[in-house]
Amino acid sequence: MTTRTQNTMWGGRFAAGPDAIMEAINASIGFDRRLYAQDIAGSRAHAAMLAATGIITDKDAEAIREGLLTVLSEIEAGDFPFSTELEDIHMNVEARLKELIGEPAGRLHTARSRNDQVATDFKLWVREQIDAAVEGLTALIRALLAQAEAGADWVMPGFTHLQVAQPVTWGHHMMAYVEMFGRDIGRFRDARARMNECPLGAAALAGTSFPIDREMTARALGFDRPAANSLDAVADRDFALEFLSAASICAMHLSRLAEELVIWSSAQFRFVTLSDRFSTGSSIMPQKKNPDAAELIRAKIGRILGATVGLFAVMKGLPLAYSKDMQEDKEQVFDAADNLMLALAAMEGMVRDMTANREALREAAATGFSTATDLADWLVRELNLPFREAHHVTGRLVAMAEARGCDLPDLSLDDMKSVHPGITNAVFDVLGVENSVASRTSYGGTAPQNVRAQIARWKEKLE
Ligand code: ARG
Repeated sequence: MTTRTQNTMWGGRFAAGPDAIMEAINASIGFDRRLYAQDIAGSRAHAAMLAATGIITDKDAEAIREGLLTVLSEIEAGDFPFSTELEDIHMNVEARLKELIGEPAGRLHTARSRNDQVATDFKLWVREQIDAAVEGLTALIRALLAQAEAGADWVMPGFTHLQVAQPVTWGHHMMAYVEMFGRDIGRFRDARARMNECPLGAAALAGTSFPIDREMTARALGFDRPAANSLDAVADRDFALEFLSAASICAMHLSRLAEELVIWSSAQFRFVTLSDRFSTGSSIMPQKKNPDAAELIRAKIGRILGATVGLFAVMKGLPLAYSKDMQEDKEQVFDAADNLMLALAAMEGMVRDMTANREALREAAATGFSTATDLADWLVRELNLPFREAHHVTGRLVAMAEARGCDLPDLSLDDMKSVHPGITNAVFDVLGVENSVASRTSYGGTAPQNVRAQIARWKEKLE
């Protein structure tokens, strides 16, 4: 059995130091060192408040402030001696502060606990990630808008069940994702607004008897207000769960777009050409150009949703207030955030660089009897047929075209009349894919003029 020296931070009541295995399972410094900047910012705000309220002297607060700045620069320069024995980022920073400034360092932890400290640090970190996600999403939306603008009236097949359904415009398809990613931004912003309450000053769980000023620390750290209940402040991680939930939905949207890019860039579809910058080659098949970035983005939802489920499982059933289980909140959030940002950046690059193949889109739009609904609608409008009968008549014409191996516009007027004598030459106007999309002017419909109006609305929104 290997035991170490007593812990300098909490070893007072212990006769022996921890077993090496105890130390290994207990330590979080291996990952929570990522919170160093937030930890130091929180400590600086706390020390300034302790001085302003007369709990510590200005002289001690100044020594703490300068010491913390030195610690910050040491960590940033990469020559900070992180120690597993000191468990986590909070104790590593404080121990180094003590080496640097001596006695005043011991006063920093007055009216504070690692419980409110870690909740504050983690919130500050998640808040930054939310801002980064909004930024990444905004860039992606801009790339989609550029694609939509270039091809606002380009005709392509719209699908249901991945079967050609009705012609739509390329711009309309791009704008569908703009709507989705726009809602993702809304979800991140909602989460940010809800989480922006400061846990600092909740102390271990019950608050403190010192005359602290929680408004002051909340303001200094950019929070809207201090959290109103000390138990809740140290015990909840719903802010991280909300971030992960929004991230999961966003990753799901990314995954769907990625899947379309994989399909569209295949030789069978040729709807888009991905740039060389966002494609990879095969080590055995020289001709290959693979959409690896799209495939990896398609997969990212797996780990991001996994992190979400993981944190739910950690948090469920925990009694109030803090339990060490909660130390297991961080790695999953770090991993999910890193991968979301990477996926957003890669998708933005792919969308920005890709070329839509107008001809291939147009050609595919005219296959699969995609204007059959237009024909049925024409029968209703011009011959006053009930829609069900029009549907039946159209179905017979589709069957006739299919038997002949041609498309609807290739049937002659006599062919048409043989199925319904009332049909006139005017029907051919609605069988063209351009006419089809141009006619869909209902609000939210695929007509190019609608698409252009939506692009303008989004551009204004992004100003
Ligand atoms: N490293 C800990 C965590 O991440 C900090 C809080 C420790 N609090 C405690 N009461 N042991 O959760």
